[in-house]
Amino acid sequence: MIIAPSLLASDFTRFGKEAERAQRSGADWLHLDIMDGHFVPNISFGPDVVKAVRPHAKKLFFDVHLMCSKPEILLEPFAEAGADEMIIHVELAERVEPLIWQIRKLGKKVGLAVNPPTAISKALPFLEKIDLLLVMTVNPGYGGQPFIHECLPKIQQADAWRREKKLSYRIEVDGGINNDTVAECAREGADTFVAGTALFHKKNMAAAIKKMRKIAHDNDPALADLKVPTLKAPKDQHLGDTFEFLK
Ligand code: DX5
Ligand code: ZN
Repeated sequence: MIIAPSLLASDFTRFGKEAERAQRSGADWLHLDIMDGHFVPNISFGPDVVKAVRPHAKKLFFDVHLMCSKPEILLEPFAEAGADEMIIHVELAERVEPLIWQIRKLGKKVGLAVNPPTAISKALPFLEKIDLLLVMTVNPGYGGQPFIHECLPKIQQADAWRREKKLSYRIEVDGGINNDTVAECAREGADTFVAGTALFHKKNMAAAIKKMRKIAHDNDPALADLKVPTLKAPKDQHLGDTFEFLK
């Protein structure tokens, strides 16, 4: 289970310190939302900001979410700025395939995002070529929006494909993730959780991350499949009897 605080919800006057806070608080990844004012009706920050933040969170995996109409011109600058993964949107249609190869050529992990109104089947032709599938759970553009429950079946489908095709891409969710919705997404098969408001707006971010990770873990369907009685063997009992139920 990966917890990825989104820098979009941080204090914009202190990007470096906020990234440090995420790292210190036990985050696994840092999610960086790049908005171009065209693909989405908002502008966030660019490669120079990511480059400036990078030394403040050296241990964190930089998950760069490109909500941009022309990622072609941005991949190299973000790779140089310190991105570990770049996520492009499936809505870019016939440009997705060459973009995937461009990201690979730069030696970075590849993510593919699907907006709420877009059918998850649009991602199907690319599943073998990606490291992460991002199921958007709000319409991208702003932090702090309410979770769209209608997106949950898409997570289930993404997980079913992953098992059927024996693939290992991560399933990430982004938008309106809090301690309630994290459980709902984990139950459907999500394993990577982006949260802005629910983490950066907390004074005790470490406690918030710890709690969110535990809820995600407790709702992992893989654990439910493995449910075996936890037996406590009395000291004098022979081990063979204790594990009899496993035979
Ligand atoms: C939405 C962005 C999200 C955003 C999530 O356009 O892609 O990453 O930061 O923010 P919260 O967790 O506040 O919904
Ligand atoms: Zn995002």
